[in-house]
Order: sequence, then C-alpha cells, then structure tokens
Amino acid sequence: MRLTNINKTYATGEFTLKILQDISLEVVEGEFVTIMGASGSGKTTLLNILGCLDRPSSGNYFFRGQAVESLSDKELSLLRKRDIGFVFQSFNLLPRLNARRNVELPLIYQEIPESRRKEIAMQMLDRVGLGKKTERLPGELSGGEQQRVAIARALASQPALLLADEPTGNLDTKTGTEIMDILRELHQSGITIIMVTHSPEMSTHADRTIIIRDGQIVEGSD
Ligand SMILES: Nc1ncnc2c1ncn2[C@@H]1O[C@H](COP(=O)(O)OP(=O)(O)OP(=O)(O)O)[C@@H](O)[C@H]1O
Ligand SMILES: [Mg+2]
Repeated sequence: MRLTNINKTYATGEFTLKILQDISLEVVEGEFVTIMGASGSGKTTLLNILGCLDRPSSGNYFFRGQAVESLSDKELSLLRKRDIGFVFQSFNLLPRLNARRNVELPLIYQEIPESRRKEIAMQMLDRVGLGKKTERLPGELSGGEQQRVAIARALASQPALLLADEPTGNLDTKTGTEIMDILRELHQSGITIIMVTHSPEMSTHADRTIIIRDGQIVEGSD
C-alpha cells in the first residue's frame, strides 16, 4: 500500500477545511502499523482512505499495485469487499442475526453458496475463540465477544488488509488485551494490519507507530 502526497479537504461555505495534508506513507504486506494522534487529527479520515471507503481530494494511492484513483466506484467497492476487512470501535453487528449469520453477511454479498458460507463462518468464529457460541445473538455476548465476532466477519473474505479503528476503545483493559492478542496472532499469520488506537500500550505490539498531528504525519512515515 502506498500513499503519495494525499490531501483531503472539505469545502464548507466560504472556507476549505484541510483535514489531511501531504500524507505520504508506505505500508508493506504483512506489516502491523498503529496510528496515533489527538482527537480530530485525521486518523479515521486516513483509515477510510486506506480502506477505500473514501477518496482523497488529491494525491495517489496504490493498493497492491492498483492506482485507486483510476478505479470506478463500482471497481472500488469490489476491491474493498474482496481485499479489505474493517473492525470498528462500536462492533456494528446486526442485532437480529446470530454470530454466525453476522460473519456470513459479507459472503452473501459475494454470492458464495450457503453451505460454504456457513463453513467459513464457523471456521472464522473458531479462530477468534467463539466456536462454541456461534448461534448466540450479539445481545447474548459480552463486548469482547461481540468484537471477536466483528473480527471474524472482517476475516471472512480473507482480506489482504485488516483496518481497525480503535477496536479496543469500548472495552475494559483486560478484554482489550484479549482482542490485541487476537490481532497479534492474525499479524503473525501474515495479515497486514493498520490500527488506530489511543493507547500507547496497544501500540507497543506494532512493528511501527505513525503519529498524526493536525492532518500531517509527524512521526513514523518510513
Ligand atoms: N464530512 C466531513 N466534513 C467536514 N469535516 C469533517 C468531515 N469528516 C471529518 N471532518 C473533520 O475532520 C477532522 C478529522 O476527523 P477524524 O474523524 O479523521 O479525526 P480522528 O483523528 O479520527 O478523531 P477521533 O480520535 O476523535 O476519532 C475533524 O476536525 C473532523 O471534524
Ligand atoms: Mg476517529
């Protein structure tokens, strides 16, 4: 993944808000990178660009050899579904679907047959230690367990890149550490992880920490 001179601006009436300024950054496959910085510094904006959820106002983004700016919205959404997994602070599970069906969801959009979907979901839930709770509704799981379901869901399509925006932000320290242990295992198995965190403690597990201040990288760009 390579970002070159990325800018993100928002036009608001008479002003132009510069949210990201001249961000250049390379993340190699298999790396575990954390992003830190004050609230409002642009971390989520950067993560959304990395995850192709949002496009930069200017600059270039190469994702696994593809120039993202040259892709249509449809191609971009395809790339996102196939190659990128997301984990958020608020687990974003569908409350009426059990854990297994939540994990199956991205596979439904990819038109994978039901029996195969189920098999993958069970496998992923097992991988995050929830093999015995696959039929529970989110409301019947603890916060840490819900986040594990969200990680299993992010992994279902076997993404090359896992993006996590403060994945332990809503969890107590002990549960947060358990989630970090899972992310470290995933990293060891070869997945590229980029994670936003407010916790210096969580950051110590990364290969590299990037620090953003007022939309600019002030540390860790290489
Ligand atoms: N759609 C938008 N229009 C205008 N400004 C926006 C928009 N989205 C985000 N911003 C602004 O961009 C800045 C960076 O926001 P961002 O969400 O990236 O910060 P963050 O570092 O993730 O903060 P936090 O730690 O609180 O999650 C903020 O000042 C925010 O108000
Ligand atoms: Mg944020």
